[in-house]
Amino acid sequence: MNEQMNVDHEKVMALFGNVFNDVAGAVAIMMSYIGDQTGVYQAMDKLGPAKVPAIAKEAEVDERYLKEWLASNAARGYVTFDSEAEEFSLSPEQACVFARESEPTCIQGLIQGVVGQFAKEDVALDVFKTGRGRPWGEHHDCCFCGTERFFRPAYAGHLLNEWIPALEGVEEKLQMGAKIADIGCGLGTSSILMAEQYPNSTIHAFDFHGPSIEEAKKRAEEKGLSNLEFYVSDAAAIPKNEYDLACIFDAWHDMGDPVGIASSIKDTLAKDGTFMVVEPMALDGFANNIANNPASGMMYGFGTLVCVPASKAQSVGLGLGPQAGPNKLMELLGEAGFGNVNLAAETTNNLVLQARA
Ligand SMILES: C[S@@+](CC[C@H](N)C(=O)[O-])C[C@H]1O[C@@H](n2cnc3c(N)ncnc32)[C@H](O)[C@@H]1O
Repeated sequence: MNEQMNVDHEKVMALFGNVFNDVAGAVAIMMSYIGDQTGVYQAMDKLGPAKVPAIAKEAEVDERYLKEWLASNAARGYVTFDSEAEEFSLSPEQACVFARESEPTCIQGLIQGVVGQFAKEDVALDVFKTGRGRPWGEHHDCCFCGTERFFRPAYAGHLLNEWIPALEGVEEKLQMGAKIADIGCGLGTSSILMAEQYPNSTIHAFDFHGPSIEEAKKRAEEKGLSNLEFYVSDAAAIPKNEYDLACIFDAWHDMGDPVGIASSIKDTLAKDGTFMVVEPMALDGFANNIANNPASGMMYGFGTLVCVPASKAQSVGLGLGPQAGPNKLMELLGEAGFGNVNLAAETTNNLVLQARA
């Protein structure tokens, strides 16, 4: 009873309002997923301002459902409604977020990643309750293509122009012709970018998820790249090939034994080789991270659903999580036997570490 009297009603209403907004956002995410997968946003981007029947015809979707969908999107500010002309459209800014794949702000990959988690909520509950691991392959397909689609703009925008140039003594070697290992390569976006940029270098890309490697091979074949090979392999079993550069993009924390794997990667490097670890942006210290890193809530959420379970499904099962922060990452690289470790670059979504023996 006394506890009831101590409840601050204004605070309750403020919290309720925040969560209500999140719930409205969750429904909007589902609306946005439908618009992406059915091509409605692309149709709107092509047409410009148009009435419902014209958009329905262009996108080849049901007119009545589209009308409801457009109203929901307009209420969230995802599309624009001109009440006088009774026309819907995408502003250039809305198009950059919802319709245009090549824009760094295209959010659809992240949305796919979220929808993929809701689609398998029963598995998420089982994993959470039992504490068992969840192998990468146990996720909805949206997890694989959504991850690739979300990470691609960051890699396309930063890998070749900022991250590799920030590594001491690496870029020139890659231009001259070097051996690169891309470990936990997923659908191979980073591998393909490096193969295109450094035609004199040879890239070996590894991932233990067979379907991802099949898709990566298809994508590389379409580009006609002859200096890139994909292999289904655990990160712990990379051949001792004297690599000049070994890299892991947004996957080290997903591994069961990041220290053991880093240590075995050290043995695959050439004498003056570099291990580049790209991890999600995070600040040092849990309290600092949740207070000052606006993406931390989402990242700990993905950590709960994807990253920690992926790690727990492997031997050791450290469960590092995607928000370890730079100091912890550098400490672990030191434990793996790297004597020279530094934070080479930071971008909005990523930390880039260089580790050398
Ligand atoms: C979040 S995804 C990142 C994929 C890719 N690097 C990218 O940035 O798009 C994590 C990847 O790590 C792979 N992975 C996790 N543990 C692995 C291990 N022990 N050996 C090989 N691959 C692993 C998964 O199969 C998955 O493709």
